[in-house]
Amino acid sequence: MSMPYAPLDGRDWRFTMGLRPLDESRWLEFDDRAHDERALKDSLLAAHYDEVVAVDERADAASRELLDVIVAHLALYFPHQRREVDPHEHPIVAASRLVQEDLCVLERRDAWRLSAACVCFPSRWRLASKLGATLDGIHAPVPLYDELLAAPTNAFFDRLRVGRAFWRLNWTLLDSPALHQPTSERRAPSGSLHDWFFRVERQTLRRLPDSGAAVFTIRTYVDSAAALVARDETFGPSLWRALHTAPSSVQEYKGWVGVAERLSRALKGE
Ligand code: HEM
Repeated sequence: MSMPYAPLDGRDWRFTMGLRPLDESRWLEFDDRAHDERALKDSLLAAHYDEVVAVDERADAASRELLDVIVAHLALYFPHQRREVDPHEHPIVAASRLVQEDLCVLERRDAWRLSAACVCFPSRWRLASKLGATLDGIHAPVPLYDELLAAPTNAFFDRLRVGRAFWRLNWTLLDSPALHQPTSERRAPSGSLHDWFFRVERQTLRRLPDSGAAVFTIRTYVDSAAALVARDETFGPSLWRALHTAPSSVQEYKGWVGVAERLSRALKGE
């Protein structure tokens, strides 16, 4: 396990788009788990294809373009990573097998809609329920999204330009390190600090030049919460503060109800 990102800053929990410009060379990331995570994708695709793949055939051209862009990106920045693909399978699946990221394609029709995706590592949501949905529809279960994020997110997608990529981080606390967590249950993690895992999503957004589609990538990192507390003395207090200050609707959605109190006791050694 490894955690290259630290999305906690010691301040109160807040709801923001948090998008930052991304240099194209840093679009995709590989680490020493690449082999295992690609193998895990292969087995999930073999056993649960319909759970991890959702495609609208109108997005086939955009998916093919995404595959080409990924293969070119690997050739340029990661020449030692695998680039062979099965020409008979759907291009978004072929593309996903090459990388550690989950891949989503959105196209602008009446609104931006999710039109193709291969998501092997969902964090408690079901891909099939989101195909064809608008950004507002995808985020319908997210408290405060409608009030605070819907308008800026829609405007951001309309302004997204080829050649200018962005990234953001999302995090939560779960009681399993499994990458594939498709159930949408909102229960709080069981146990205490030593049973918990800090899960971070590094998300990127960019626009494809030919199809004009938007590509959303999700890279998931998981590490033991106890190990992070032991490694960095600011981590535990920052985590507690973010959990404690999140509004109750967010606590319920994220499965954080009562977690700040349990963390506080664990940090005090009780
Ligand atoms: C600027 C772009 C975006 C922003 C600011 C954003 C923001 C968020 C936020 C704040 C959440 C709540 C989850 C949490 O805090 O743990 C969320 C959930 C989610 N987002 Fe996004 N998001 C963006 C783009 C996208 C895109 C392009 C997709 C396309 C697939 C997507 C799919 C989801 C899904 C599936 C969930 C979980 C919803 C559920 O619980 O059913 N997001 N997003």
